[in-house]
Amino acid sequence: SLPSFVPALVVGSGYGGAVSALRLGEAGVRTLVLEEGKLWNEPGPDGEVFCSVLDPDRRSTWLRTRTQTPLGTFLWLDVVNRDIERFTGVLDRVEHPNMAIYQGRGVGGGSLVNGGMAVVPERRALRRALPTVSPESMYERYFPRARRQLGVNEISPAWFEHTEWYRYARVARRHANRAGLDSVLVPNVYDFAHMRREAEGEAPRSALAAEVIYGNNYGKRSLDRTYLADAVGTGNVRIESLRRVRSVRREPDGTLVVSVRRIDESGTVLESREVGCRWLFLGAGSNGTTELLLRSRETGSLPELSEHLGQGWGTNGNVMFGRSNPLWDPTGGRQSTIPVVGIDDRNNPHGPVFAESVPLPAGVETFVSLHLAITENPERGRFVFDSASDSARLLWDPDQGQPSVTAARATFDPVNRANGTIYRRDLFGDTRAFEDRFTYHPLGGCVLGAATDGHGRVRGCPGLYVTDGSLIPGAVGVNPFVTITALAERNVEHVLAADIGVRR
Ligand code: FDA
Repeated sequence: SLPSFVPALVVGSGYGGAVSALRLGEAGVRTLVLEEGKLWNEPGPDGEVFCSVLDPDRRSTWLRTRTQTPLGTFLWLDVVNRDIERFTGVLDRVEHPNMAIYQGRGVGGGSLVNGGMAVVPERRALRRALPTVSPESMYERYFPRARRQLGVNEISPAWFEHTEWYRYARVARRHANRAGLDSVLVPNVYDFAHMRREAEGEAPRSALAAEVIYGNNYGKRSLDRTYLADAVGTGNVRIESLRRVRSVRREPDGTLVVSVRRIDESGTVLESREVGCRWLFLGAGSNGTTELLLRSRETGSLPELSEHLGQGWGTNGNVMFGRSNPLWDPTGGRQSTIPVVGIDDRNNPHGPVFAESVPLPAGVETFVSLHLAITENPERGRFVFDSASDSARLLWDPDQGQPSVTAARATFDPVNRANGTIYRRDLFGDTRAFEDRFTYHPLGGCVLGAATDGHGRVRGCPGLYVTDGSLIPGAVGVNPFVTITALAERNVEHVLAADIGVRR
């Protein structure tokens, strides 16, 4: 059961929420974390906690009766998705008109489902995204702190060069190099020593057993094993799962009160409660935090919130596409699910492109090179509150994805020409080659320095802070969780000292 009051309350247990929880706990502040998804610690009937991409069941998907992968078809056949039982599974796809936002659900948020790519952005991309944040402090202090606590490590280049599990990535890299493009080996939070033991048959397989997006049973240092484990270890932090925070109000004495619904594993609401706190940290992700604040403003419980709320949302320029390789250039039936190659095209006339080589762990040879390009698409959407559905709705035009597609083509048309490859048109349900109707990297909605001050304090409500990806306006040029984590480290350090009276 929940207390009626705690000093600090954190909503959501992804990167922003986990950083806040750890640093509050270390500072001796009693803290309650409320997370809508499950605590993923109990094995299912097959003895594993999570299911694989090849054999998804109800554990895969948040409250749906069918799985929802972005890659909907193969040879136009609906062979990828499966019917499942409705359950509080780990991957959610929030549908908005013209845009689907993927996010992780559970104690650990996106860290449970993501590819673990841990990339520090270039200085100029950081400056564009966060112009008021000192780059020196980020590169010297907060990025290193975040990387250390996240457990970032690097693949051995020698192993990468010969293992069959990364043939697909070496093929993609060779194709890019032939077109004159650079590529990098990208650090990750997946334990590469564990992966090598998987390959040698000495450790249980996860990355080498088609596990990703629906969770990894082994090898991945997700937040429940890093930040959140240490937070609970301080003795000051408690995490309650299957708790959905609905809205926030502020009492005359400054107490912030959240209304919380307890749900069961089929999503049914069991009870509603209120919990008060002095300091409230929102880490419910771009979609979740923005919705919570918009609902609170529009239903009158926090009427003073800024008019900037809901604005500055973007896809991090995400666009996915596949290329078909010639028969003499197989990508391999055995593929590690953990991406490690980034194709780096900073001189693209349509803006920088950073494209990861994405695994397609089908278990058979597909001859497909799959890519997720991150582009600096300048288009921004806006969330509004829709009272009929009691949820946030994203205003995003189909055309707004076009700059991502244009940039990706400017990088990869020459790759196709140099290698005799072509774009696949059978992967996304119709004949499109580029899928820009979803994002794995939603960013913005409560932008730093607009809806909040320069350290995430929500304007119009003292004691209320935003800590997650909604602070970053729409794009950061690379995979975002290291930046989200480092920014949360920076902000919470300042808030602990300035507002809560604690110094590190
Ligand atoms: P995050 O989304 O992590 O956490 C929010 C949490 O709040 C969730 O657990 C949610 O259930 C909870 N919540 C929401 N609403 C709530 C409410 N009302 N009440 C209570 N709880 C609530 N990035 C990267 O850098 N490298 C990568 O390789 C990848 N790969 C990747 C793959 C896939 C499939 C996805 C979906 C995403 C990625 N990402 C990624 C993106 C990365 O995971 C993402 O940017 C971060 O998880 C965002 O962190 P946040 O702290 O913003 O929220």
